[in-house]
Amino acid sequence: MAPSLSTPMKFLALSMFFISIIYQDNAQFPTPNPNQTTMVFYLQDLAAGPNATVVAPVAGINGRVWSFTTFGSIFVVDFPVTLSISPASELVGQAQGLLIASALDGASVNVALSIVFNNLQYNGSTLELQGISRRHENYREVSVVSGTGKFRFARGYAVLETAFFDISRSTLRLTITIQTN
Ligand SMILES: *[C@@H]1O[C@H](CO)[C@@H](O)[C@H](O)[C@H]1NC(C)=O
Ligand SMILES: *[C@@H]1O[C@H](CO)[C@@H](O)[C@H](O)[C@H]1NC(C)=O
Ligand SMILES: *[C@@H]1O[C@H](CO)[C@@H](O)[C@H](O)[C@H]1NC(C)=O
Repeated sequence: MAPSLSTPMKFLALSMFFISIIYQDNAQFPTPNPNQTTMVFYLQDLAAGPNATVVAPVAGINGRVWSFTTFGSIFVVDFPVTLSISPASELVGQAQGLLIASALDGASVNVALSIVFNNLQYNGSTLELQGISRRHENYREVSVVSGTGKFRFARGYAVLETAFFDISRSTLRLTITIQTN
């Protein structure tokens, strides 16, 4: 006859089972990090005029048109970063860096941008954005790979969405979600 567990032993075995389930549950659903923050800014892109923000392509493949859809074209940008959608709203910094047409079929652009803050709260601090922006999608997610000053050790992601567009200018909404710990 097989040995059977006494009642207290059965209870203990059952408790161990539940304890291990509860433990696994906690492992699967970590409590949200209280240091996670989301910030919303707007990048103002003026296509033309003396204050144009896209310095039209600085490099590309010889003998081909240099454009956002031609593989190998490189643009240097310096976008004002504002608090709300209007270009006249409060300036908080500049988005400076490179846009590189990095897909052979022209479908995406590689983004390498520093958000350089110059407002009171974050003056001198920076965030580094890097990733692929698919031109045909309105929701474009890139990585926040690092930061300096108040954003040391930052990591997270940034979402770029077109908030306003006409031939003379466009405004991108930039939603940054980061953890600094
Ligand atoms: C360009 O920027 C300068 C400095 O911010 C400003 O004084 C000037 O009015 C701007 N020009 C235009 C056409 O927006
Ligand atoms: C930001 O820092 C620079 C250099 O330290 C300083 O000249 C400027 O006045 C500061 N701006 C603000 C808004 O605090
Ligand atoms: C949140 O940030 C503070 C200050 O940087 C730090 O002391 C704390 O440990 C962080 N909390 C978590 C859960 O990372």
